[in-house]
Amino acid sequence: MSTPQGPTLRELAVQALSSTMRGYDLLAPKFDLTPYRTPDRVLDAVTDAVRPLGPFGSGLDVCCGTGAGVGVLRGLCTERVTGVDFSAGMLAVAEASHPAGGGPDVGWVRADARALPFRPVFDLAVSLGAFGHFLPSERPGLFAQVRASLRPGGLFVFPVGAPPAVGSRAYWSLLGFDAAMRVRNALLRPRFIMYYRTFPLPGVLADLSRAGFKARLLPLESLGRRPDGSPRARLVVAAVAE
Ligand SMILES: C[S@@+](CC[C@H](N)C(=O)[O-])C[C@H]1O[C@@H](n2cnc3c(N)ncnc32)[C@H](O)[C@@H]1O
Repeated sequence: MSTPQGPTLRELAVQALSSTMRGYDLLAPKFDLTPYRTPDRVLDAVTDAVRPLGPFGSGLDVCCGTGAGVGVLRGLCTERVTGVDFSAGMLAVAEASHPAGGGPDVGWVRADARALPFRPVFDLAVSLGAFGHFLPSERPGLFAQVRASLRPGGLFVFPVGAPPAVGSRAYWSLLGFDAAMRVRNALLRPRFIMYYRTFPLPGVLADLSRAGFKARLLPLESLGRRPDGSPRARLVVAAVAE
């Protein structure tokens, strides 16, 4: 749920009727008040899990939005941190909320993550809360773009939540959301690409491997465990295969 200061239902509806990029331009000023911004407890869990894998010189936040992952990278990288996103509105908010000063240099780049403009200069790439904006057929290309932006031995890390139990309330609500989006995108242009159930871990790991990564999983312990003992969330740590 949004906070009372967050976007109204009407504003969210207008956003959802726009293209993905324009939708984020519209939402940008209030984005940090929505539940779509990655929560601090997830950012902290990611930071704690990645820190022992360092040190890192330069970092890249892919689909940075208002800069949640840039904040993580600023605490982990020593030289330079870059946020990349295709929404000018989100980047403007990000820049305003992450003023330069102390720690690594920070820069912002407007680009489509499916065509990243970087040479292999980064030691660490992170992406948070954005994979639902890519169709499964786009995933191999996206991973290849991140891979091409990393130095040999570089790491691409991102958290993945455990899927809700089949038949649970969360399961049905995500299924319903995706079904509504499919109907919307069949009927309306421009499309707004946002799906919850298009990022299954086995397919993701296979695509990472095909893109030249060697991936492993770390439990994000601070986010807790499910009744069956499995972690509620894990960190995918994908290393550029050398
Ligand atoms: C839900 S927001 C997440 C923002 C931020 N990473 C966070 O965790 O709070 C998704 C972001 O992905 C960006 N995005 C979606 N598709 C993109 C693409 N193809 N290229 C670049 N950015 C994209 C949107 O503009 C938006 O800022």
